[in-house]
Amino acid sequence: MLEIIHAEINQYIERQYEEKDALLREMEAYGQKARFPFVGPQVGKLLFLLTKLLKAKKIFEMGSGYGYSAYWFAKGMEDSGKVYQTEGSHENSAKAREFFKKGRIETKSEFLVGDGLQLIDQVPGDFDIVFLDLDKEDYPIAFEKASPRIRQGGMLIADNTLWSGKVLDSHPDLETQGIQKFTRMLFSDQRFSSAILPIRDGVALGYKL
Ligand SMILES: C[S@@+](CC[C@H](N)C(=O)[O-])C[C@H]1O[C@@H](n2cnc3c(N)ncnc32)[C@H](O)[C@@H]1O
Repeated sequence: MLEIIHAEINQYIERQYEEKDALLREMEAYGQKARFPFVGPQVGKLLFLLTKLLKAKKIFEMGSGYGYSAYWFAKGMEDSGKVYQTEGSHENSAKAREFFKKGRIETKSEFLVGDGLQLIDQVPGDFDIVFLDLDKEDYPIAFEKASPRIRQGGMLIADNTLWSGKVLDSHPDLETQGIQKFTRMLFSDQRFSSAILPIRDGVALGYKL
């Protein structure tokens, strides 16, 4: 496993991000205890800022877990905004609803249980942001489904695009192959102008031109 950011630099950054929202701190403690792979505060804050910058009102997430990343999106949106969470596990989705209720922002989310790759077809219209954080081997198909559904001036965001450095493997496993293929698709797609930020496990951004 390759260290993407030097551990001490990472700690330095995290010290600046001390979270004041008690519910987010509770969600972080829950994720750490359950050893659940949530995006964490550095990526969470980035999602919040991008939501604000794009003035996003409609966001679709593929792979929402217990709602941590969605909570940051929801915090960045006005009251009329909506984040469509999709999650394969009923239990995770129920936990997300519970956290959103506790944070009194449940009206800013839909909690859809099932396959995010299919569920996107059930929500009409374009999105300001689509966030990919589902099974990594599905990133290429997720890109195919999501890319036409993002408005001009909107953004595709994908987590884990450096995959603990495994993207450098000469014999990559299926998950790594999914990330590598997705990255080639994103960067060669003329509809998008793209970047990878080496924050935590690598966040890819595709701005729809
Ligand atoms: C990395 S976790 C998501 C973490 C979440 N985005 C966060 O940072 O708080 C990935 C989640 O995606 C879900 N998942 C995987 N494939 C999926 C799919 N095709 N549709 C919906 N959910 C999926 C898994 O059940 C798991 O909870």
